Amino acid sequence: MNTTLITGASSGIGEAFARRFAALGRNVLLVARSEDKLVSLCNELGRINSIRAQYVAMDLSKPESPARLFEETERRGLVTDTLINNAGFGSMGEFTRLDSARELEMIDLNVKALVDLTYRFLGPMRARKQGTIINVASTAGFQPVPFMATYAATKAFVLSFSEALWEENRPHGVHVMALCPGVTETNFFEAAQIQKPPGRAEQTPEDVVDTALRGLARGKSHIVSGWTNLLMIESERLVPRSFVVRMAGRVLRPYFGDGNKETTGSKDTKE
Ligand SMILES: NC(=O)c1ccc[n+]([C@@H]2O[C@H](COP(=O)([O-])OP(=O)(O)OC[C@H]3O[C@@H](n4cnc5c(N)ncnc54)[C@H](OP(=O)(O)O)[C@@H]3O)[C@@H](O)[C@H]2O)c1
Repeated sequence: MNTTLITGASSGIGEAFARRFAALGRNVLLVARSEDKLVSLCNELGRINSIRAQYVAMDLSKPESPARLFEETERRGLVTDTLINNAGFGSMGEFTRLDSARELEMIDLNVKALVDLTYRFLGPMRARKQGTIINVASTAGFQPVPFMATYAATKAFVLSFSEALWEENRPHGVHVMALCPGVTETNFFEAAQIQKPPGRAEQTPEDVVDTALRGLARGKSHIVSGWTNLLMIESERLVPRSFVVRMAGRVLRPYFGDGNKETTGSKDTKE
């Protein structure tokens, strides 16, 4: 049974992907830790669309999870023709004051799980000469971001990795694309107990999914969601990289620098 696998589908952008793909008549396999949310979303999607909605509740930051998830799709007889690597989280603050275990967990989820899942599902897609992989990066992946150093670096990885795989896999019928949202109205900021970056226009998760579908239709290697975000990224290309980093530092230091200890937490509220 052909299926779209979406990680981080219990809220935000992943949930919007689940709703859209189900509405397009695609069977979905939803993955996140919050089983209660996945159960109710699957029930709703299965009821209103003529599709099969299934879930796997798991913590993808655990090293064994991607292999377990792949085996579970095989056991259920699912053909994953679309993989959306969306699960991720961030932190904000002075790097030395953040929880190091949490920073490493971020790399495990945002980078390691994404690479592992891409590797496992890409092989069969290439064998079938058909498939789509959307890796959710961020506008934060285009430049280093002081006070979001680890998060921005994970997203730079996702962007670079996806663009390289886009080129490698074009002749093999598989489309790999990085999706780069800017600030989006989701649980992202609450989950990480961080403030939204000041002065940035927000998009809805549905806007971001619209962008992704446009990117797929155009065969893009990456796509930035929102024209103000695109304008910002394009304009940053025109000035030295060090200038961009210093400007970002100047904007964020009053919120997250040494002078503002209250706003530097990255404590996880989910587990
Ligand atoms: N919101 C923004 O402004 C923004 C901007 C650029 C990029 N992004 C990226 O967009 C993606 C989706 O985030 P969002 O904005 O939609 O935030 P969100 O509402 O917090 O959604 C994050 C999703 O990831 C899941 N998740 C978190 N940790 C997990 C783990 N260890 N194992 C499995 N699933 C996990 C969460 O579900 P559970 O808690 O149930 O596990 C949830 O479904 C992320 O990669 C994020 O970096 C967001």
